[in-house]
Amino acid sequence: MLPALILLALVTAVTGWCGRTDRPPLAPAAVDRSRHGTVAVFGATGLIGEGVLSAMLADPDVRTVHVVTRRRTPELDAAAATGRAVVHLHDDFLDYTALGPLLADIDAVYWALGTSAFNVSNEEYSQIHVDYPVRFVTSWLAARGRTAAISFHLVSGSGAAADSWFHWAREKARAEALLTEYTAGTGLRVVAYRPGGIVRTGPRARWYTQPIRLLQPLTSAIEPVRIGEAMLEVTARGAAIEGGVLDARDLTRYANAYRARLAAEVVGAPRGQHAESAR
Ligand SMILES: NC(=O)c1ccc[n+]([C@@H]2O[C@H](COP(=O)([O-])OP(=O)(O)OC[C@H]3O[C@@H](n4cnc5c(N)ncnc54)[C@H](OP(=O)(O)O)[C@@H]3O)[C@@H](O)[C@H]2O)c1
Repeated sequence: MLPALILLALVTAVTGWCGRTDRPPLAPAAVDRSRHGTVAVFGATGLIGEGVLSAMLADPDVRTVHVVTRRRTPELDAAAATGRAVVHLHDDFLDYTALGPLLADIDAVYWALGTSAFNVSNEEYSQIHVDYPVRFVTSWLAARGRTAAISFHLVSGSGAAADSWFHWAREKARAEALLTEYTAGTGLRVVAYRPGGIVRTGPRARWYTQPIRLLQPLTSAIEPVRIGEAMLEVTARGAAIEGGVLDARDLTRYANAYRARLAAEVVGAPRGQHAESAR
């Protein structure tokens, strides 16, 4: 198994390196922080969702994070104890009526719910990665009761393609396409994120994932919390993303822009300088 993982990391590094075009950093842009005042995170007990939740809790402008999950964890309990996270136990991800009026309050949804194609049948994979988010978004649209801009941020995956040989890659692309189709003209913006390698840190680090971490400078591998930061920047900018999809290198650019913006605010730029009234 170890040689296979090292080989995988090397392939990731080489393909990541060959594909690099050294895109320039994003220029500062106007932001509207009210776009992520009240948010929801799905998949927060997972590798990526946990990092996304951390980014939400660390952001000074996120007031409330609603975590929709099928199980509690000590980490979620700790987040709830801060008073900024509210945990909603939910067991049917094809039916969101139990969330009730909450849906009308949410400004942005960060969807990191999903699993590996190795864990489930093709049918289950399709249900989890296509039916669950599509059903949620259609329920959210029906419940929102307002015209303010809202946004849905889907963790997809590098390699998603409608014509792929792989079922998982076709289904990821199908989810992106259906969500875009169903929300066209509604004011609900859908952005899909296609991370490649994920860098595990802290308690999630494993000896066998160290090659990905060591080769990170050569690749577009990214820490989960940085995916959350990129999502916050995309939300706040209301940025028009070409095709509604961000690839792994653009994820890093948005995450860097997020940190640069917050650092600039810390050294004294008045917050209002960046704000625009977009609502
Ligand atoms: N990890 C990677 O290297 C990577 C890279 C690119 C893209 N992605 C994509 O990112 C997404 C999240 O991946 P991850 O690595 O963070 O996965 P993960 O660690 O396995 O976490 C998955 C999350 O989704 C929830 N979930 C899974 N199946 C569910 C179901 N049937 N019903 C309700 N909740 C369910 C899990 O809840 P429980 O904790 O209750 O099981 C958990 O919160 C996936 O779509 C994956 O394809 C992952």
